[in-house]
Order: sequence, then structure tokens, then C-alpha cells
Amino acid sequence: MRFYLVSIFFLLLILLLSCSRKEAVKYIPDNSEDIPRISADLSANEPFISILPAIFQAAEIPANLSRAIQEDLSVNPGFILDLLGILRGDPYLRLLVDKRHSLPQNYAPGDLVELRDGSYRISRASLMLRREAAAALDEMAAAARTAGHTLVASSSYRSYNYQSEVYDRNVREMGQQAADMESARPGTSQHQLGLALDFGSIDDSFAQTGESRWLAANASRFGWSLSYPSGYEEVTGYRWESWHYRYVGRDLAVFIENYFGGIQQYALRFIYEWERQTDS
Ligand code: DAL
Ligand code: ZN
Repeated sequence: MRFYLVSIFFLLLILLLSCSRKEAVKYIPDNSEDIPRISADLSANEPFISILPAIFQAAEIPANLSRAIQEDLSVNPGFILDLLGILRGDPYLRLLVDKRHSLPQNYAPGDLVELRDGSYRISRASLMLRREAAAALDEMAAAARTAGHTLVASSSYRSYNYQSEVYDRNVREMGQQAADMESARPGTSQHQLGLALDFGSIDDSFAQTGESRWLAANASRFGWSLSYPSGYEEVTGYRWESWHYRYVGRDLAVFIENYFGGIQQYALRFIYEWERQTDS
């Protein structure tokens, strides 16, 4: 009897240990074939790691974040593995589009689909997102609805010309300085990617809603990331927009949360510099 009890105890222990191991690697994308190579790199290939400080500097990543990533890297290759997984994905999901990095006037995504009332509501007709972003929105909205919130899609893909109209109208209504804090000049809007979505009222009242609180807590699980957070006006160049989310895919959304304090701009700038300096 005692023998059986002891055996069962050890079996349960082994089961528990194997589960917690899975938990520890759950954010690492499906690139486990890289683990031995990267582990070897981390211990033997000093130049691989030594390029990071220059990249952090060029990307203007705050010292506390870059220090934490580098300290973590000395014991765990997770950051590099996650990064490599993201670099293998659709380049537009990670493309830096901001006041200093613009899209060509003629860029338009090739796989736009029209949004329709369903798990979420649309506030007007002809809203479009890229196919993958629309599917992720659908999934996220279904989860929000289960939690008692109906998401409302209010503004989505904007062509270069349409963004031009939006920006000009904002300049007329609020003056250039105020317009530049909340309206991207044509070519510099994430909306041109077909990956950005404005929810609800598209004004500060949205921050007081349950939908906004639910999105802030859950959007990254579905691949969405808040682009212009409160307190980061100097970093993003825009005032707080509680309603503007960008679809970056699940791996990058989790990467942003795990390593860059949830600040999308830092992570996209880091990846931009990484690709530029490593030519990868
Ligand atoms: N409101 C954001 C910054 C845009 O115009 O894309
Ligand atoms: Zn927006």
C-alpha cells in the first residue's frame, strides 16, 4: 500500500513539473529548432549579444527596459527566440509607421476585407481591415461579448488620400499644432496599413467605458496593441488615444508586453533598428 502511495506521489510530481515547464516557455514562438543554436550563441558568440547596446541606443529605449532585457538574456535566450519568431512573420505587422517613418503614397494592402456587424458592431458602412486583423477582431470581440462588452468598430483602413482629408479637416478645425498631436499626416498613419482600428466614440469619453477597460486588459491576447498610451506623448508624438489599437499579431503583442512595458512604439523602434543594423 505504502509503495503504491509513494509511486502515485512521484507520478503526480513528474506531471506537475512537466506542466510548469510548458508554462515557462509558452510565449516562445514555434521556433524550438533554434534553441540549441541560440543557446550556443548566447554563451559562445559574444558579438551577437554585443550589438544590442547600439541597437537599444539608436532605438532610444529607456535604460531600465534595455538593462532588464540584457540581464534576462544572460540566463535565458527567450528574448532572441521570440524576436526571431516575429522576424519570420509578416513584415507589415512589425513595420514602424510614425512621424519619422512613412508609407509610400501608393501603398495599400492587398487583402482588405469589409467589416460586418457580428460579434462586434460597426458604426458606419465600408470599414475595412486586412483579413488577418479582421479575423483577430472577430475573435477578440466574441471574447469581449462573453465578458459583457460589445465592441464598436468606428474607423479602420484609410487610404493616403482619405488620411489627407482627415488631417486637413483637423487642421482647419483645431489648428495645426493641436491637429499634429492627434492626426497623422498622410503617409504616416497606421490606418494606411489596414491594421489599425478606432473603437467606440473616438474621443476621451471612450476611456471611461467598460469596453475600453476590457481592451486595455485583454487586447494583447488577441494580437492587438494600444498605439498611443497615456503619459507617452513625447515617445509616440501623439496624445493619449484610448480608442486606437493596432493589430500586430499575437507574438509581437506579447513581446511588447513582456519586454517593452506594453509600449508598442519602443518595441517597433527596437525591431526597426535591429533589422537595419543586422541587415536581417
Ligand atoms: N490618430 C492617429 C494618430 C492617426 O491619425 O493615425
Ligand atoms: Zn486611429
